[in-house]
Order: sequence, then structure tokens, then C-alpha cells
Amino acid sequence: MDNLDQIVSEAQAAFAAISDPDALEQAKARFLGKSGQITELLKGLGKLPPEEKKTAGAAINVAKAAVEAALNARREAIRKAALEARLAEEALDVTLPGRSEARGGLHPVTRTLERIESLFASIGFEVADGPEIEEDFFNFTALNTPEDHPARSMHDTFYLQNPDGSLADKVLLRTHTSPIQARYMQAHVARYGQLEKMPEIRIIAPGRVYRVDSDATHSPMFHQVEGLWVGEGVSFADLKGVIADFLKSFFETDDLTVRFRPSFFPFTEPSAEIDVAFMSGALKGRWLEIAGCGMVHPNVLKIAGIDPEKYTGFAFGFGPDRLTMLRYGVNDLRLFFEGDLRFLRQFA
Ligand code: PHE
Repeated sequence: MDNLDQIVSEAQAAFAAISDPDALEQAKARFLGKSGQITELLKGLGKLPPEEKKTAGAAINVAKAAVEAALNARREAIRKAALEARLAEEALDVTLPGRSEARGGLHPVTRTLERIESLFASIGFEVADGPEIEEDFFNFTALNTPEDHPARSMHDTFYLQNPDGSLADKVLLRTHTSPIQARYMQAHVARYGQLEKMPEIRIIAPGRVYRVDSDATHSPMFHQVEGLWVGEGVSFADLKGVIADFLKSFFETDDLTVRFRPSFFPFTEPSAEIDVAFMSGALKGRWLEIAGCGMVHPNVLKIAGIDPEKYTGFAFGFGPDRLTMLRYGVNDLRLFFEGDLRFLRQFA
């Protein structure tokens, strides 16, 4: 029966051309389904004379088995191909380098702040803190800088607005860390004011401060570290000694000179600018301004409730960003605040 051979080879060709399992089942129907070609032939057997039935039936069954074999072989082949594709897709390349956790590091300015804190802690200074959104009172008034005092214009201040655009009532971004002095003294007096002898105040207060200013050496946000020592008989000589020792420890060298240059701050009297010069290295012989300082003004003590006849003190305000630039040889302040990891990683 040529017809049977043809059906078988047709089925084989049809199955071979298919690689999708659903399409394969549909193709199967054409041959083995209810009205498939093989099925129709089997149905037709009944009409044959009895003597032909046997041979014809056997031949059709052989063809049917051949079609089924081709179908199963193709099913198996498709299944294998799918499995292989999936294995290839999910393959692990064990030679790829792993994705490790990135290790963070401290910001160079943070390193400086921590270093300053620990150096001062070693001579009995406690770390103090205060709000960055500050009241006009603590930022200026309590520091002997009343309203319309010309010294207010030394600071280009960011004032805060109410949601409706009007100026918030005397609330500002602190322009220096000195308000922490005022807050700390006030709290100290509240706690120990009645005592015959008030315990000494010795604090170091690092933090962010804000001024309307921006160029290579000024950023609208920068850092300061305030220092304050108030007690009986605290003198300018103590100030000089503390600062000189601190700078030598901070820069890890005795090869530097410190100069106190007369200056003005409303909250200290006398006041000075602190300059440092290195006796060797790249910056050799240049005076670099790094802090403001002075003896706490009697009015500032009085406003805080401390008797200026009995107690004296000194205060200073360092620019730790500047100290960091000097320590690491960085020449543009803005690099510290741009968040460029290529720069920051060098300190990690
Ligand atoms: N607050 C001063 C400034 O920002 C610095 C300073 C602090 C001066 C403490 C004297 C005493 O310029």
C-alpha cells in the first residue's frame, strides 16, 4: 500500500519540521486524531471484504505504529532541546568574580572632627551639640551681638521662611558654632548655678554651619569646631598653651609656629585670629589662618548667668575643613562636598 508509506513519510516530515510542543500535538491530530488520516483508514476497514481485512488491518497498524514512533521521537527531541536551552540559560559561570560588599569609609572631614574630639577629650573636654536651625537669640544676642549691631553683617545669614513666604520669626541656619557656647553655659548654670563653686566648663562642639558664600575656599555649608573653657582663673596664657599643643598633636609635628593676631569678635575680648606656619614641607613659611579665638566677653558670661568677676574663660572656633585641606594637601574646599567617590575613596 503506497498510500500508507506516503502517510508515514508525510507524518515524519511534518513532525520533523515542528519544534513547538503544542504545534506537534496539533499535527498529531492530522494523522491519529478522531478524523486523522490513519483513523479514517481504520474506519474504512469495515467496508473491505473479509479476506482483505486482515492484511489491510495489519498494514495500517504497522503504519500507525510508525507514525506514533515518529511522534514520540519528536516529542522526546523537543523536550530535550527545551531542557538544554534552560540549562544553558541558567548556567552559572563559576569563573566570574564575585560581587563583594563595597566597604565604606569615613569622610575626611569626619576624620578630622573625630580627631579633634579625641585630642580635646584627652585634656578633659566634653563633646557638646546644638541645633543647626538656631534662634537669633543664641546665634547673636546671647553672644553680645544685639539687633542692629554692625557685627551681624559680618555673617551673611540664611534666614528661614514660613510656608507663606514671610520671614520666620528670628529663626536662622546657625552661622557659627558659637551659639553652642551660649546654650551650654545657660544649661550649666541652670544645673550648678546655686553651688558655691561652679564646676568648670570644658567643651568641644563640632558641627555644620551656614553662610551665604560660595567659591573655591568657601562653601555655603561648612564645619566649625567650637571650644570653650570657663572656670576660675582661666587666662589667655591657657588659651595659647592649649591651642599650640593641640596643633602640634593634630599635625603630628613640633615643626610649626602659632601666631595670635589681634582681631575682633563681639563675644570675646580681647580677640585674636590664630595663624599657623609650618617650618618645613610644601607650605613652609606661609601663615595660614585657621581659627578665631579670645577671652569670653564679660557680657556673654553675664547673659548666661555666670559672674564675670568670679569666672573667666576662653573660646575658639576652628575651621576643620581648612585643617583637613592642610593635613591632606587638598586645594579646593568644594571637593569635600561634591560626593565624588573617586575623591573620597582616597581617604577610606
Ligand atoms: N564664631 C567665630 C566665627 O565664626 C569664631 C570664634 C569662636 C571666635 C569662638 C572667637 C571665639 O568666626
